[in-house]
Amino acid sequence: MQSCVPIELGRDCTIDPGVILGYPPGRTVERTPVRIGDRAQVRSGTVIYASVKIGNGLETGHGVIIREGNSIGDDCSIWNHTTIDYDCVLGNRVRIHCNVYVSQYTLIEDDVFLAPGVMLANDPHPLCTKCMQGPTIKSGARIGIGATILPHVIIGENSLVGAGSVVNADVPARAVVVGSPARVIADVDELECPFDIVKPYVDGIDVRRRPEWNTVAPLPRPVVRPARRGQ
Ligand SMILES: CC(C)(COP(=O)(O)OP(=O)(O)OC[C@H]1O[C@@H](n2cnc3c(N)ncnc32)[C@H](O)[C@@H]1OP(=O)(O)O)[C@@H](O)C(=O)NCCC(=O)NCCS
Repeated sequence: MQSCVPIELGRDCTIDPGVILGYPPGRTVERTPVRIGDRAQVRSGTVIYASVKIGNGLETGHGVIIREGNSIGDDCSIWNHTTIDYDCVLGNRVRIHCNVYVSQYTLIEDDVFLAPGVMLANDPHPLCTKCMQGPTIKSGARIGIGATILPHVIIGENSLVGAGSVVNADVPARAVVVGSPARVIADVDELECPFDIVKPYVDGIDVRRRPEWNTVAPLPRPVVRPARRGQ
């Protein structure tokens, strides 16, 4: 398909056959070039609309949709069948897993992780749209599998939202929240590895962002989870 705007690609990019760059927005908005930095790996089925700006090191899975007006930082990965709706801002090193929906006007800061099936909402009373705005997810926050974050909510720095939670209020920095509606159950630094391999979080930072990541050996398969403490 013919792009409706110029495409500005950086160096060493791999764009699979079946990728569409510069897709025309259905809305009447200004159309500016698609800019993608160096080393992008864009897999088949990905559609990137006009007026999108992306830094270096982008990696997409298959069937990813990135709508118009998005600004995405460096070294971000966005996996299969995820949609980033229009006019969002994503920082650097953001990792978004499969089947995630990022609603319009969402702000995601650096080092955020969204697990598979996370849903970010933006209109409190659909279809009003007058105050439509997605959540703000502060740097280093992790959102568990299948969680739903309601409009305007602020997810605090280095916090952790438990799997399947529905978050309807702001989450403090470093808090662990679970349930529907989500409630604080701990500070992330209090969490323990059931296998006693490594402390999952230190000063809110997950092991992957700490130097010891390189020295932690994976468990042999199959992994057998030990009985919970106190059982
Ligand atoms: C929130 C979480 C970190 C807590 O893990 P944990 O430290 O092992 O805590 P526990 O399993 O001991 O649970 C503590 C309490 O919270 C409850 N709880 C834990 N996770 C919950 C969840 N997702 N929803 C509702 N309640 C939950 C437990 O039932 C338990 O309650 P109790 O004290 O009344 O028995 C974990 O359950 C979780 O959701 N992790 C995210 C997994 C994920 O999405 N990974 C993404 C990669 S695919």
